[in-house]
Amino acid sequence: MQTQVGIIGGGPSGLLLSQLLHLAGISSVMLERRSRAYVLGRIRAGVLEQGFQDLMRRAGAAQRMERDGQVHGGVNIAYQEDRLRIDLEGLTGGKTVMVYGQTEVTRDLYAARDALDGVVIDEAEQVMPHGLEGDRPYLTFVKDGAAERLDCDFVIGCDGFHGVSRSVIPADRLQSFERVYPFGWLGVLSATPPVNEELIYARHDLGFALCSLRGPQLSRYYLQCRADENPDNWSDERFWARLKTQLPAEVAARLVTGPALEKSVAPLRSFVAEPMRWGRLFLAGDAAHIVPPTGAKGLNLAASDIHYLSSALIDWYKRGDSAGLDSYSARALARIWKAERFSWWMTALLHRFPENEGFGNRIQRAEFDYLMSSKAAQTALAENYVGLPY
Ligand code: APR
Ligand code: PHB
Repeated sequence: MQTQVGIIGGGPSGLLLSQLLHLAGISSVMLERRSRAYVLGRIRAGVLEQGFQDLMRRAGAAQRMERDGQVHGGVNIAYQEDRLRIDLEGLTGGKTVMVYGQTEVTRDLYAARDALDGVVIDEAEQVMPHGLEGDRPYLTFVKDGAAERLDCDFVIGCDGFHGVSRSVIPADRLQSFERVYPFGWLGVLSATPPVNEELIYARHDLGFALCSLRGPQLSRYYLQCRADENPDNWSDERFWARLKTQLPAEVAARLVTGPALEKSVAPLRSFVAEPMRWGRLFLAGDAAHIVPPTGAKGLNLAASDIHYLSSALIDWYKRGDSAGLDSYSARALARIWKAERFSWWMTALLHRFPENEGFGNRIQRAEFDYLMSSKAAQTALAENYVGLPY
């Protein structure tokens, strides 16, 4: 089997890339380890920056997003009983975010790939890249028990944090930077009306909570929990009771509860691998970097990587120009580190850190008070939340 660009991983990064390349007349094959049903069943974040939305439009996959996505011009931060609305739109000269679940994004991108007869090989096992330092790399994999080979010009690692791509780069050619946080998020999806029209990020002495949403009758809530928490230890009653305690009283009073449709625990981590290229292998999205979900940046960072990488590949194929490929890692990392900083800062502001009792708690409170009183501080938050320019 042969193609121009071999893509490992069928998450948002791989899907967006293969679609944009296809529209530019460049062929690709995507190898995904899981089944289609599994990939489409994953529940993840749901706040899209303008840049992500634009990419969905360019990919020809924005129809449902335009119809069902909710435009948000503000976001709320609560600290115990105090509440602050950050006027995203007013503070950024009219920029907003769109609330539309990643699950739906993935569904729309698969539909767009299918509509163009895009080649996606599901349940591809033992995917392994080879020959990355030469100019004829290839991928081997097993499909339905048979060994297969895919020859290509480039291999793109879009296979997430636990994928194979990053692991084939020799240790002396890759530097990793990591911070693991001493807690996780327990998430619940419920078929209930959201407690608030806009998101509320809440800091409480017991820990962080987030009120998010997917639609008029679909809510997504999170509670800070132990990193190794077992979601089965959380009955619906326990979850709702704890959430109510951690929200400002007037918000808690409006909370509508119901059975959890999904309940899961996600660890919090900051991670960056540098550089994002080794020979003919390029990393994009979660394969190269992870942010804690507190700034809603994970999916959006995948989009900016794909923006840079797709235009670099198009320049190479259309004009023989390798400048974009050569500068991809540096360009992508410049934006990634700013989003890493913002996500780390939001996480530090809003969570309860076990080692923080005392001094650290007072610093968090002072940070929030400063935010309440300073338009400059609110503008900095807003500018980062809506997404820094590409
Ligand atoms: N071979 C083939 N596919 C693989 C392999 C492998 N060895 N390892 C992982 N994959 C697949 C996974 O099953 C998954 O579908 O790669 C895909 C990676 O997708 P994501 O983890 O969603 O990563 P990405 O596409 O970069 O999406 C950006 O940012 O914050 C996050 O939640 C957000 O998932 C989103 C991500
Ligand atoms: C979500 O809706 O799942 C969500 C929203 C904002 C975040 C993280 C997750 O920062």
